[in-house]
Amino acid sequence: MALLPILQYPDSRLHRVALPVTAVDEAISLLIKDMAETMYAAPGIGLAATQVDALWRIVVIDNSATHDQLRVFINPEIVARSGVSDFEEGCLSVPGIYEKVPRADRITVRALDAQGQHFELEADGLLAVCIQHEMDHLDGKVFVDYLSRLKQQRIAEKMKKQRRRGA
Ligand code: NI
Repeated sequence: MALLPILQYPDSRLHRVALPVTAVDEAISLLIKDMAETMYAAPGIGLAATQVDALWRIVVIDNSATHDQLRVFINPEIVARSGVSDFEEGCLSVPGIYEKVPRADRITVRALDAQGQHFELEADGLLAVCIQHEMDHLDGKVFVDYLSRLKQQRIAEKMKKQRRRGA
């Protein structure tokens, strides 16, 4: 297993669209393991493949307090949504920024699990928001894309400054 570098906003590669997984083979299984390890090490509660520069429709999430409830979503699709959520979101690709963006409070999602088996999950609250956030990444969308242009520019400046300081 390996820790993968997480692309940092405003990296244009974060805006690429991921492709559906056609077979859960060894390479995909390894990617999922590496993504989970990377997410836990960050630490974070969700990671999409596009964030580690892998253009597959794969999301890993663990929002449990014990960090031992890994959820894997391959080719996820939201088939129902309702309500309006009220969570501040953060993102491993935009460290230190937390904002509210419009999300459904309750969703039904269909996906394949890490073994390639179909499943359906009803989620609400933080988990529902997290799934929507990570699925956006698969379509090349970062949560700050929902914010005003001015706010986006400020965040991009802040990120660049942080990186210069870190370098
Ligand atoms: Ni994110």
